[in-house]
Amino acid sequence: MTRVFSAMQPTSDSLHLGNYLGALVEWVKLQDTHDAIYSVVDLHALTQAPEPELLRSRTRRTAAQYLAAGVDPERSLCFVQSHVPQHAELSWILSTFTGMGEASRMTQFKDKAQKTGESGANVGLFTYPILMAADILLYDTDVVPVGEDQRQHLELSRDLAQRINGRFGEGTVMVPEAHIVKETAKIYDLQDPVKKMSKSTGNPKGIIEMLDDPKKVAKNIKSAVTDLDSVIRFDREAKPGVSNLLTIYSALTGRDVDGLVAEYEGRMYGHLKVDLADVVVAYLTPFHDAAMEWIESPERLDGVLAQGAAKASTIAQATLDRIYDRLGLLPPLHR
Ligand code: TRP
Repeated sequence: MTRVFSAMQPTSDSLHLGNYLGALVEWVKLQDTHDAIYSVVDLHALTQAPEPELLRSRTRRTAAQYLAAGVDPERSLCFVQSHVPQHAELSWILSTFTGMGEASRMTQFKDKAQKTGESGANVGLFTYPILMAADILLYDTDVVPVGEDQRQHLELSRDLAQRINGRFGEGTVMVPEAHIVKETAKIYDLQDPVKKMSKSTGNPKGIIEMLDDPKKVAKNIKSAVTDLDSVIRFDREAKPGVSNLLTIYSALTGRDVDGLVAEYEGRMYGHLKVDLADVVVAYLTPFHDAAMEWIESPERLDGVLAQGAAKASTIAQATLDRIYDRLGLLPPLHR
């Protein structure tokens, strides 16, 4: 079976609806047809200097959301990156194949470094894409589902794989394919519906957090910004607020936007909002409850993650042994 690998950083207490629809829903589907491996990449999160207690709880919360969404540990691997030391080991190897110029061209690094000033940024932020390449190449990954913002990082993983194979022979590593998850539903901020829904925009009322109390989410929907003319129709330019509500409605129910527009013809925004609030509550409640159940039984969660790590590390070690050998590192006979 073709192998997929993907991951998220444990940098928030809760995913928002955009993350969920754009990534987790896709991951869960891919399990049916692929050999799937999903990691919580806590080593990547260290580049943002998190508080230890916060990192610990966010790592568990992120994993809990994978499981609540339907990532099935019986079929797929679900594990925490730092539990599999081979990620850091392969990352070193890959760094010796990465050009300084090549790493300097990563636009996400440039954006992040600009915020702190180039000299304030840590080296981990610079080598972040190399660790990401290690995540992928360790599992002989065929396909990597990621958002558009990760395209350049994926390209680096492919370049490194091809470079290594060019020098040490085909099959030293597998060359992964990007599977850029087309945003079926691009979700915007409820308070500022021309901006993509994102934690960094600041206004908590604009975001639908997957782990928020569904009642609070319903409130956010009801106070979403719309426009003055009161016609319900889809027009991203002229009516971004109403269009966003229709998009969310459609994404959560599977109904098409045209059908919804027809149904709400002649009715008021308030009707749409009240109905959508119900839809969102019905959708979020089972997810919320399942995730909270995992979060409230950390021993059970840690057990699942330990099992995932054990299996992942067997695969990872076999890949690393093969690479070390091809590169000319002596076999470690003491093991
Ligand atoms: N950089 C990715 C992001 O921020 C997370 C990530 C780390 C990842 N390693 C990965 C994604 C490997 C896919 C494959 O979204």
